[in-house]
Amino acid sequence: MELEELLQHIVSDDHLHARFLNTLSLQENIGARKISANEQPETSTYMVLKHAAEEHRHAFYLKKQIAKLSISACPTYEPDYLLAPYSSKYYLNKLDLMTSRYLRDTLQLGGSELKFAAYLLVTYAIEVRADLIYPVYQGVLDQNKSKVSVRSIILEEQGHLEEMTAQLKNFSTVWETHAENITTIEAVLYKNWIDDLAKTI
Ligand SMILES: [Fe+2]
Ligand SMILES: [Fe+2]
Repeated sequence: MELEELLQHIVSDDHLHARFLNTLSLQENIGARKISANEQPETSTYMVLKHAAEEHRHAFYLKKQIAKLSISACPTYEPDYLLAPYSSKYYLNKLDLMTSRYLRDTLQLGGSELKFAAYLLVTYAIEVRADLIYPVYQGVLDQNKSKVSVRSIILEEQGHLEEMTAQLKNFSTVWETHAENITTIEAVLYKNWIDDLAKTI
């Protein structure tokens, strides 16, 4: 199922929509925690702190949107309140794992160097994906005249992609090759996630 068709289906049902918002909130929260977990004294710049703060805000903001639907639900991230709970978490964790393996095998990185490079590439790939998903989602929300809005997230995600690109340029002169390899890995995981979402709805 294509993303837009899937989102049309989700937005038309408040119960599904609430769980979808909660699932996105969870993924934003995992992303925020990944950024914070990778903070080092040498790398905790204004940009990194801003990014972590904004991802935490996205998690909170999406959770808050649930109250705009005509049901009250999803108080926590327990499986019953999510859509495709396993693959929604697996998508991010597996991307982390496969990126670390890639960096170890191709650049022979290890320790904190590997951790930082993985953070850069994983976050980059997620930002590329966020820049594709959120505008399509907002389009579907507009078509359905939904009270839910993700407009404020879209703007910040665009900024994040620029920030990650700037950091990757510092990291390597051939960053584009690495970024392309990681986004190829991400595309497979993303497809699995979408297929799984389609199966649950
Ligand atoms: Fe975000
Ligand atoms: Fe972001």
